[in-house]
Amino acid sequence: MSSSEFYETARALENYLRFCKEIGIEELPAGFAAGGTEIADTERNGTVLLSDRRKSRDSSAVKTLSEIREELGDCTRCRLCETRKSIVFGEGNPKARLVFVGEGPGRDEDIQGRPFVGRAGQLLTKIIRAMKLERKDVYICNVVKCRPPGNRNPQPDEVASCEPFLMKQIESINPEVIVSLGSVATGLMLKLKNFKMGQLRGTFHQYGDSKLMITYHPAALLRNPSLKKPVWEDMKLVMKELGIPVSG
Ligand code: URA
Repeated sequence: MSSSEFYETARALENYLRFCKEIGIEELPAGFAAGGTEIADTERNGTVLLSDRRKSRDSSAVKTLSEIREELGDCTRCRLCETRKSIVFGEGNPKARLVFVGEGPGRDEDIQGRPFVGRAGQLLTKIIRAMKLERKDVYICNVVKCRPPGNRNPQPDEVASCEPFLMKQIESINPEVIVSLGSVATGLMLKLKNFKMGQLRGTFHQYGDSKLMITYHPAALLRNPSLKKPVWEDMKLVMKELGIPVSG
């Protein structure tokens, strides 16, 4: 290793450790490699195990993500179409073992047409990396595909218009684990109206064939950093479920 490669690796390690500290991880994950690339490839974390799982269902009846996107079209099913710049469908591995579901696009997502790219999204990306995965290994989407004006919560009729598309995305991907980020996604996935996130997180729920982990939305972590620790506890359970080595 040349001295510049050594310093680059040391800097990457320093950044990673800083982030671990920031989100409240006090021990290094087992199998930790600088840059987190040791098991962060789609072959090991994504497609291999999944293909066994997918073999057992009749996939001819299930639409592909491209077909679902085509069906969504230039959607005018609810009033959010009047103010949106982009439809933010979702992105990532169509065979992901892990799907993250957020609430709806914010300003940055509306401009870029991609989910979770603003401040909350950057924190989600760090969380995914701390799980020894990359964004391309997982699938990231939202309950509603268009930005609610002023980032207000999506209204029940807006959620209802978009719900069939989220359900089809999940059916198409058939993930082992879904992580529901925040109360809008959680209310929809569990069909609950009045609940406390703190009472639902920290344990798996069942969602069809997938395990569902409820956790706080990254935007809530930005407002209240003390939530980083419980989120990391939830993500460690997800890692264990996916067979990703974790310690601490
Ligand atoms: N918040 C969300 O719920 N989704 C995004 O895509 C961005 C921020």
